[in-house]
Amino acid sequence: MTKTEKLSDLNKRWSLKNTCELKTSATQPVFGDGNPNADIVFIGEAPGKSEDKTGKPFVGAAGKFLAEMLQSIKLKREDVYITNIVKYRPPNNRDPKPSEKESCAKWLVEELNLIEPKLIVFLGRHAMHNFFPELIIGDAHGKLIQKKLPGIATEYFLPLYHPAAALYNGGMRETLKKDFAVIAKSIKKLKK
Ligand code: URA
Repeated sequence: MTKTEKLSDLNKRWSLKNTCELKTSATQPVFGDGNPNADIVFIGEAPGKSEDKTGKPFVGAAGKFLAEMLQSIKLKREDVYITNIVKYRPPNNRDPKPSEKESCAKWLVEELNLIEPKLIVFLGRHAMHNFFPELIIGDAHGKLIQKKLPGIATEYFLPLYHPAAALYNGGMRETLKKDFAVIAKSIKKLKK
């Protein structure tokens, strides 16, 4: 089986067996998307309205901004892999509840270990807290972390502000741009 086939298998399996309460209100599950052999995986929070409609992560306003940021470091969406900690849209885009995060947690870990990227980038504090609950996004953003976490193959992580938060905030936008440059620098080092 190719990695793409394995991912499709994994998504089918988890979308059937997981018990997330959001399944009843969401239109469909939003699976990860992109290159299954990517060196970089981006993890967001949960699908929004456009994602729920299309079944693809980061295709709305935040996704357009993410594509712009990727372009600033000469990457395309197709070069990386993009997913969320929660695979179903929370009603009215509210924050996912701890139980909703928990019900998708093993799905995400399996997904990450199948891709085995060199670097995992957290888009926002929700994604970061899933792995590093003790960190504060205001301090941790843009700083590469090396840590062996139980059950996770990848050892390098980079927290960033969420693109939706930076979209209409000029200062945060500039910070996010600078932090994206850290991705380019880090991946160059990790690939040596
Ligand atoms: N915000 C997220 O965190 N994920 C998406 O897929 C879209 C917006």
